[in-house]
Amino acid sequence: MLRCVGLLLHCFSVIKDKSAGIVCCHVLLIVSFTSLYLRYLASFIPEDNLLETSEVTSEGNIRQSINLDDTLDFRARHGVETRTSWKAPIIWEGMFDPVLYDQTHIQNQSSVALTVFAVGRYLDAYLKTFLTSAEQHFMSGLKVRYYVFTDEPDSVPNIELGPQRSLKVIQVEKHSRWQDISMMRMKTISDTIESDIRHHCNYVFCLDVDQEFKGRFGSEALGDSVAQIHAYFYKLPKERWTYDKNPNSKANMEYGDYYYHAAVFGGLLEHVKSLADHCFLGIMEDKLNDVEALWHDESHLNKYFWLHKPTRLLSPEYCWDTNNIDNDIHIAHLIWAEKHYDTLRDQ
Ligand code: GAL
Repeated sequence: MLRCVGLLLHCFSVIKDKSAGIVCCHVLLIVSFTSLYLRYLASFIPEDNLLETSEVTSEGNIRQSINLDDTLDFRARHGVETRTSWKAPIIWEGMFDPVLYDQTHIQNQSSVALTVFAVGRYLDAYLKTFLTSAEQHFMSGLKVRYYVFTDEPDSVPNIELGPQRSLKVIQVEKHSRWQDISMMRMKTISDTIESDIRHHCNYVFCLDVDQEFKGRFGSEALGDSVAQIHAYFYKLPKERWTYDKNPNSKANMEYGDYYYHAAVFGGLLEHVKSLADHCFLGIMEDKLNDVEALWHDESHLNKYFWLHKPTRLLSPEYCWDTNNIDNDIHIAHLIWAEKHYDTLRDQ
């Protein structure tokens, strides 16, 4: 519309002939009124809660962002927060209709990339359980493409995959410090979104490998920008949240909304790419200044979500440590595996 008006004004200024100018004026008025009238008519169309935005990608595919938040039952759960102060839902069991979510996402051909890093001894210890349990519970019914990043591609177990599910192994360097393995994944995720994921999927979820799916982890978890509330901190007072407090680090923050866990994050490709780029830049700047944030990439991720609020939060039911006993947890969709840091990490 703006372009159209601009073009007509331009024509008007170059056309010296008075009568042609009057014709242009009329055309301009008709275009403006038609646009206003169409907007007026659109205001009577009931708000469709299925498709929030759609966008044509550089490859010409239509990418849609689905929003079924109006169908969530925010009062289904007592004693827990189900919505943030900026109105993003916090997903707990009982709030959503799984059939509606699945049908809508299947109809719209949502496809999900699941990235996981299995480097060094983490591969043997966790990858098989992670993948086999994901086959049972992660985004069942949707197109899923696993991206396994490892230093030993030949050791990736052969898992029988369901229909519409594929797996790609990508070789990565094994940094000697586990902190670097964790931090550098941000760059790998960003690069892979650009080189591969964007040709296959519209959502991406990035998970730690030392976890096991125990129940449905379905399309209700999909959103534009998704953060996971850390199981250990959601009931603790803010003063005990482990943000980075070093003023020399890019991750430094005094206040925050929640303490998020870097073991699970996701969203639409473009959001996850921005998150990964932001965290990677912060990590590199810290390296130049010889500082390291308290909880490495997780500190930078918390800073990112403080500056760019997530549109969907997953309750601790989506990443739970079964060593904790808590009546708020009705179902643990994904659980922490035993960590064995002493034998699995090099330093
Ligand atoms: C621990 C967890 C770490 C990190 C830390 C933050 O429980 O194992 O990965 O999230 O909390 O304080």
